[in-house]
Amino acid sequence: MSIKLSSGKEIPIEMHKTRMVQKVRLSPVEERLKAIEEAGYNTFLLKTKDIFLDMLTDSGVNAMSDNQFAALMKVDDAYAGSMTFYELAEAVEDILGLKHVMNVHQGRAAEHLIAKVFAKPGDIVPTNYHFTTTKAHIELAGAAVLEIYMDEALKTKSTYLFKGNMDPQKLRNAIKKYGKDKIAFVRMELTANLLGGQPFSMENLKEIRRICTEHRIILVLDGSLICENAYLIRQREKGYGNKTVAEIVKEICSLGDLFYMSGRKNTCVRGGLIATNNQELFDKIKPWLPVYEGFFTYGGMSMREIGAMAVGMREMVDPDVAGCAVEQIKYFVKRLDETGVPVVTPPGGLACHLDAMKFLPHVPQSQYPAGALAAALYIVSGIRSMERGTISMDRDKEGKEVFADLELTRIALPRRVYTISHIEYAIDRINWLYKNRNLIKGLKFVSEPPVLRFFLGKLEALDNWEKDFSEAFKKELGDY
Ligand SMILES: Cc1ncc(COP(=O)(O)O)c(C=O)c1O
Repeated sequence: MSIKLSSGKEIPIEMHKTRMVQKVRLSPVEERLKAIEEAGYNTFLLKTKDIFLDMLTDSGVNAMSDNQFAALMKVDDAYAGSMTFYELAEAVEDILGLKHVMNVHQGRAAEHLIAKVFAKPGDIVPTNYHFTTTKAHIELAGAAVLEIYMDEALKTKSTYLFKGNMDPQKLRNAIKKYGKDKIAFVRMELTANLLGGQPFSMENLKEIRRICTEHRIILVLDGSLICENAYLIRQREKGYGNKTVAEIVKEICSLGDLFYMSGRKNTCVRGGLIATNNQELFDKIKPWLPVYEGFFTYGGMSMREIGAMAVGMREMVDPDVAGCAVEQIKYFVKRLDETGVPVVTPPGGLACHLDAMKFLPHVPQSQYPAGALAAALYIVSGIRSMERGTISMDRDKEGKEVFADLELTRIALPRRVYTISHIEYAIDRINWLYKNRNLIKGLKFVSEPPVLRFFLGKLEALDNWEKDFSEAFKKELGDY
């Protein structure tokens, strides 16, 4: 939650206390420069020994609760029929309202199975916005993603509260154009990641549900970030202020045909799941589970993680858990916005996002401004962020660059991990970056994998801009 101080200032306040800690180290700028060069200007390739604040992602790096740690110890490790799995199934039914569940090793494994079973070559998958791994699996199945977002979604500075909405009229037009038999399924992603963690409204979801029902098209919900979306519906949507996050989560789930999630985010473990009330859809996926993931009662996850997931599933709808990152992000974004730094507004879930095209207008998209900004942020702060722009798009079949709609540098807030002083430090270094933005230039690939190149690709700084840039930092702020 956020709390108002007697000065009138509002700050996010942690509704938990820290009882186990992990030491971190801030290395001097010279070391950071060497580390990013060795990592090929790709923050994924940094080693954690060189990282001060790891804000790469909120995935698999959240703080687990005391009850989750206790659950890790008390599990039924049976290969088949484990009672720990049935504890999770009970939690899924209680919290999501969904009767059938299968685990998978992480969110993209759910995407793989769903794409494999429901998408055929030539099919179309309309979505409010793509996610990297979703798109890869849909395309590997021979289908194509069709993004149907509201015009407002791509405006990084906005007051539109639900930029994750799908445009219903555009969906109707697409069904007419391609024919309903060509639509494998419609996918709605909660707290749309690549739009800057932006929620959709319940009203919009209901409208999309009506269209899918009318045309008998399957509606798939990617609920990896469901709780943040529910928390923001509660804060922003008329008629939901008096509902609990738990009630909103259940209502969202009741509107989809198939639900999947990466459990690495809201449930604070390492795993994922697919859940539904539709027996027929479930039975189509189930035979493939042991082929790609594992037996039905573990699905590629360790039983310990499933035990912790059962607890995390119940805890994730607590507003202090669902809202902890949202409130930190609100503070983070507001402070940067006040000093004129181009950030994605309104603030959403998942991360504070810098608009790299506005931050570095002198760096063309072909020179990857969001990647350059992520590298520069690391050099001046030891903070690891992630590029979410053109590097995160793969080339098309002809090998041509596909420019992203948005060039975002994402500074993620893992749940219950960082404190307000960490955020203050990040704000300070981002302000320094903004003042010195002209010293940052672009990047070019030196090694480029063909699929999901952002994970393993290596780049170098154009014109060796990192030299003058790090010298300017040292002159003003010294080694740290
Ligand atoms: C919206 C969304 N869907 C799917 C995934 C993939 O999940 P995982 O990383 O567990 O494979 C992610 C991961 O960040 C995500 O944000």
